[in-house]
Amino acid sequence: MTWLITGGAGYIGGHVVRELAAAGVPVVVLDDLSSGRTAHLPPGVPLVTGSTLDRPLLDRTLAEHRVTGVLHLAARKQVGESVERPLFYYHENVEGLRTVLAAAVDAGVGRVVLSSSAAVYGMPDVDLVDESTPCLPMNPYGETKLAGEWLLNACAAAHGLSAVSLRYFNVAGAAAPELSDPGAANLVPLVFRRLTAGLPPLVFGDDYPTPDGTCVRDYIHVSDVASAHLAAVRRLEAAGPAERVRLTLNIGTGRGASVLEMVDEITEVTGIRIAPETAPRRPGDPARVVASAELIRRELGWSARHDVRSMVTSAWAGWQHLHP
Ligand code: WQD
Repeated sequence: MTWLITGGAGYIGGHVVRELAAAGVPVVVLDDLSSGRTAHLPPGVPLVTGSTLDRPLLDRTLAEHRVTGVLHLAARKQVGESVERPLFYYHENVEGLRTVLAAAVDAGVGRVVLSSSAAVYGMPDVDLVDESTPCLPMNPYGETKLAGEWLLNACAAAHGLSAVSLRYFNVAGAAAPELSDPGAANLVPLVFRRLTAGLPPLVFGDDYPTPDGTCVRDYIHVSDVASAHLAAVRRLEAAGPAERVRLTLNIGTGRGASVLEMVDEITEVTGIRIAPETAPRRPGDPARVVASAELIRRELGWSARHDVRSMVTSAWAGWQHLHP
């Protein structure tokens, strides 16, 4: 069984490819290399350079590589950019998925894993977000991820596909320095940037209704995200011929960390001790988003293995690799 991994040269994609290849799962990567890098791919993994919007290329790739399942990770992922360019985000993320699904259905590919996001939940008003928490995305990026889940589920029902949507929480870290994300604009790299420039890390708001007043998130090591994909692939490959798997699963740890706790951890790991500075709240930031990771544990037997220290240590090694 060969799996097509769209976006397989990206930050998360590169980790997923590596995890599957190491487990002996045959893979082929489709990536437009807009943010992906060929250096993220292990030797011997075939790369098709092009867009998920290119239907003839998809048809050829599915046929030539005898693809039996698709992991669809290719997407645009900058929340701010999605607010400025919603048409671009809907086109790339929703039309891109629609094109992949149309090609998969016509080629008789019956298994699809979709990369989704905690952004589908928006501002959840619960201690632990489980998969039945209402989805109310707060920006076009989150909307495209939710629309993608709906489209996948509708196709699964109409065309008899097995489908798994994986909602990633706050992904950080790297399995190896050269696999880290050069374009990352999240808390951990932003704090590295400030500290290495001799500037205090910025804390966006310290008056949230949380224990230390700063926002709480569920940070998950990218290697754990990759192993969750392998678990989904195994589950789909183990399904009987008449079984249709339909799952929507959080990928998180079930443990929250505040911005101040993360900054402390980063200060500790980097050894650069500059006290953080409070800045105004960032619009649209929920106070707390922490996953319940129960369903994925029950359904796939998967749970996260890495802690925040290992995420920050490996992210720091990656940062130093990218900024020698
Ligand atoms: C985390 C916390 C910031 C930088 C985003 C997307 C989400 C998903 C993951 C893709 C927040 C605070 C940050 C800084 C700070 N993306 N912060 N100082 O917003 O939780 O999630 O990335 O799937 O959809 O929204 O992540 O890393 O930007 O911020 O205080 O310099 O850190 O306000 O509370 P976020 P983040």
